[in-house]
Amino acid sequence: MKLRFPIFIVKKRAKDEVQKQDAVNSLVDIEPVKPIASPERLRLSIVRGDVKLLETYPLYEPWAYAYITEDLKAGTINYVVYEIGLTPQEESVYKSIVDYIMWELEPPKTQIEDVRGYISSFAKRAIRLFQLRLGRTPGLSWSKIGYYIERNIIGYSFIDPLMRDPNIEDISCNGPNLPVYVWHRKYEYLPTSVVFRTSQELDEFVIKLAHLASKHISVAYPVLDAILPGGHRIAATFQKEVSTKGSTFTIRKFREDPITIVDLISYGTISPETAAYFWLAMDYKMTTLILGVTGAGKTSTLNALANLLRPTYKIVTIEDTPELRLPQENWVQLTSRPSYLVSGVTEIKLFDLVKISLRYRPDVVIVGEVRGEEAYVLFQAIATGHSGITTIHAEDIDAAVKRLTSPPMNIPSSYIPLVNMALVIKRVTKIDETGRPRPVRRITAVWEVEDYGKYREFALWDPLRDRFKVNLRESVIIEKIAKMKGLDAEDVIEDVVRRKSILNYLVATGKRSYEAIATYVYNYYYKPAEVLKEIGFKEK
Ligand SMILES: Nc1ncnc2c1ncn2[C@@H]1O[C@H](COP(=O)(O)OP(=O)(O)OP(=O)(O)O)[C@@H](O)[C@H]1O
Ligand SMILES: [Mg+2]
Repeated sequence: MKLRFPIFIVKKRAKDEVQKQDAVNSLVDIEPVKPIASPERLRLSIVRGDVKLLETYPLYEPWAYAYITEDLKAGTINYVVYEIGLTPQEESVYKSIVDYIMWELEPPKTQIEDVRGYISSFAKRAIRLFQLRLGRTPGLSWSKIGYYIERNIIGYSFIDPLMRDPNIEDISCNGPNLPVYVWHRKYEYLPTSVVFRTSQELDEFVIKLAHLASKHISVAYPVLDAILPGGHRIAATFQKEVSTKGSTFTIRKFREDPITIVDLISYGTISPETAAYFWLAMDYKMTTLILGVTGAGKTSTLNALANLLRPTYKIVTIEDTPELRLPQENWVQLTSRPSYLVSGVTEIKLFDLVKISLRYRPDVVIVGEVRGEEAYVLFQAIATGHSGITTIHAEDIDAAVKRLTSPPMNIPSSYIPLVNMALVIKRVTKIDETGRPRPVRRITAVWEVEDYGKYREFALWDPLRDRFKVNLRESVIIEKIAKMKGLDAEDVIEDVVRRKSILNYLVATGKRSYEAIATYVYNYYYKPAEVLKEIGFKEK
């Protein structure tokens, strides 16, 4: 069939109009569409016995699927993305629609929040228009064309299928002509079949990501640390300015549905006692350090614990990129700002924000991650009666204290006892029901800080039995709280037990959302008898 294309009068755009449209056009990926992998070829390799298919699942039915394969010769596991391909006819219609959108899409007249929604509805109208103009088109799938338009215009083009896989935590590209890597919840790091073939293709993609995050990346400013629409954290470098192989990027995917304390208990990351203990200790404004390596789950743990903060507390959070999400209303979220040499915008560092945060009279100051001079101001805030929670990149308490007391943080050792508790979260391997090793997260140790160099193990994870040993009765923090409140340590322990019962109840009844947890936390303070009755708690 020969397609008759409508003749568009291509507008000659004035120069300023071109500039005006650039921002919007940056969202449009004009690269031709190619199916990323062929299931036929894969099937052949399986038949030949070169490859074993471990599992397959849909990423976006019926358009995109993941095939996890094992290369039996090399012994490697690969993540193959299969996307349904366009026929040559469909591809030419697709290209005409993309061209049309690029020429005809006007920047919104007024400031709008949902730019992607705006573009998406324009794209839908464009597809409709082509459908009407082309009339009957047997053998041509409009929904397939619609998929590619959505994927490339408002989606993440080549990596869009990967962004849709809930098993994937991180997506990273180390340069052109190299496989894009993913961190998979079941298999850890896997190379994928997605490859940026040329440096230009990758550079353009990185620029597109920067624009999506409303940021800038260029030869003059070749690093990017930002948040993409949907909350995904992106770090990127541009061309060969600072990365030898060319542009690179890493995306830490944001979970629509954040991990809550109830999830952490259900996954076995934390024991219900330890969670209840932190809930109580934070209530008495004890300060917590969360330790772990990159991607260990520090921010998620911080967020989940902060969910348990008393709803009347004033919370100020300070981060480089806004990752935290809290249900509390009395919460101010501050984020730092880099400086752009060209624009003369001044840099606002974490340090400045921690300083200003004290003017907000916070009960709790949360710093996403301490790395530099902001640590000192945070410790001063803690010394003056504020509660602090922060994360630090370290493997255990000794390493964390060493980092804190060395440049650039330079915390005097006499300040270390201002920290009350520290926990470390790790990715560890567990053998699952099928006998395969599987990565899981565990809070492998919780320490109580008695003094500089004197740390007491409050909880410890036993890797053999996958259990936690918790020393509630030897806790110095419980002792301290009891003294502060003129109570007996046993009374405080009773309080921990009550909170633990509430958490266990939430786990057992599947009440895992932020809102549900916030409601029970709130009710525990305002109508404890009612809540304890509801959960069937019996005093000893
Ligand atoms: N307990 C957990 N169980 C399962 N997945 C988890 C757990 N904690 C975190 N994750 C997942 O691990 C990934 C990394 O988590 P997170 O961002 O909290 O790590 P991080 O230590 O703060 O990383 P970074 O050092 O890059 O800041 C996320 O995709 C998150 O959803
Ligand atoms: Mg983090």
